[in-house]
Amino acid sequence: MGRCAGCGAWNSLVEEPEEPPRAGPGSPRPGAAPVPLAEVGVAGWGPRATGVGELDRVLAGGLVPGSVTVVGGEPGVGKSTLLLQAAASMALKGCRALLVSAEESPPQVRLRAQRVGALVPGLWLVSETLLPALLSAWDQVRPDVMVVDSIQTVADPDLGSAPGTLVQVRECAARLVQEAKARGTAVVLVGHVTKDGSLAGPRVLEHVVDTVVSFEGERHHALRLLRATKHRFGPTGDLGLFEMTGTGLVGVPDPSGLLLADRRPGLAGTAVLPALEGTRALMVEVQALVTPTRAGVPRRFAQGLDGGRLALLLAVLARRTGLSLAGCDVFASVVGGVRVGEPAADLALALALASAAADIPLPAHLVACGEVGLGGEVRQVAQVKRRLAEAERLGFAGAVVPSSCPDGPAGFELVRVGSLGEAVRTLLGAGPDPGERRDLRLAAAPG
Ligand SMILES: Nc1ncnc2c1ncn2[C@@H]1O[C@H](COP(=O)(O)OP(=O)(O)O)[C@@H](O)[C@H]1O
Ligand SMILES: [Mg+2]
Repeated sequence: MGRCAGCGAWNSLVEEPEEPPRAGPGSPRPGAAPVPLAEVGVAGWGPRATGVGELDRVLAGGLVPGSVTVVGGEPGVGKSTLLLQAAASMALKGCRALLVSAEESPPQVRLRAQRVGALVPGLWLVSETLLPALLSAWDQVRPDVMVVDSIQTVADPDLGSAPGTLVQVRECAARLVQEAKARGTAVVLVGHVTKDGSLAGPRVLEHVVDTVVSFEGERHHALRLLRATKHRFGPTGDLGLFEMTGTGLVGVPDPSGLLLADRRPGLAGTAVLPALEGTRALMVEVQALVTPTRAGVPRRFAQGLDGGRLALLLAVLARRTGLSLAGCDVFASVVGGVRVGEPAADLALALALASAAADIPLPAHLVACGEVGLGGEVRQVAQVKRRLAEAERLGFAGAVVPSSCPDGPAGFELVRVGSLGEAVRTLLGAGPDPGERRDLRLAAAPG
């Protein structure tokens, strides 16, 4: 069949020949004896810091012996670099580390290691794609940490199907999980992701491993974001931030400073949002540009923001504040290649749109956060205190917040607004009256 009868997708069916049961380590064991839980030994099984601070933050301490972690990300985002740096820094601290390079040749790996300063003793390399050879290298080196780059290129010749197929990826991963538990090695698998962002290969990969970490970043920006989507040994909320440089990935301790570095205060159409990623507050600049439509159908373009949310806010602006942009092309973006998905961005985006339309800058010393409802009301968002504290730390003097917002840091000005209309009138003064609908006459651009 070329087409799945269940979901209607073409060419999504994969042949899976029936396997004779394999006698591998683990399968014919005569049943483990039950032990009292309190007597299970845990010495040496705590997380081991990788030495790459931002990675350890995401992993809540480091790699746990015997665990399997998948690092997923698009090609070129820096997965191989990150794991090379982590393995080298663990090797420097006395761990034995083995890199299994199933995609690149040893000289290629060495050149990268040279570039990022990862030529250290205790770091071993094998360039191998076949599972049995990989297992024998594992036996020879007996590493504390092993990186397999990537799981999609590793294949078990006994299975018959091509590398990268569903069966291969699932069976190889399952085998590596079994071996990692038996040998106490912390294994990290590199996994490619498909265009829609899910891990290529079977979803079952996410179920058999202990931790799934995704590495994201805009291709043309240096900032890289690392977050755990599944973690058996700690919380998943935290965010790691890196910058890709010529000498490898460098942790970014002050991302807000980096993101706001090129900001031009006093420009119409920009607002600063104290975004929250996991437990980390991050100041991002939301920008909007509004121009008269030349072609028949007005364009709406969102980058780093949800296009549906942009359309929704344009509708709320039109109906609840009277600011209709029906005859205008609207462009909205988040600066620096960051993606903002939380509703807390609504108020900043709506204010940036209104500011762009009126060509009046928002007060440069204020940030804005709040969710905007369909009624135009501005609603509370999560973790306001943390957001405001970070805004204050970066030198902002105040924030536009929902009226129910708790007090911020001492001396920090809070502009409380109940509705979007109120926010527009308070901050842009010349904004239209609520209820009165009129089409916007674009302010003439300077020059
Ligand atoms: N000489 C270099 N100088 C600066 N950056 C480089 C250099 N070589 C590679 N890079 C960066 O490293 C990225 C590739 O990293 P890599 O770890 O191989 O990615 P992945 O394994 O996720 O495909 C490139 O996209 C580029 O940004
Ligand atoms: Mg790679």
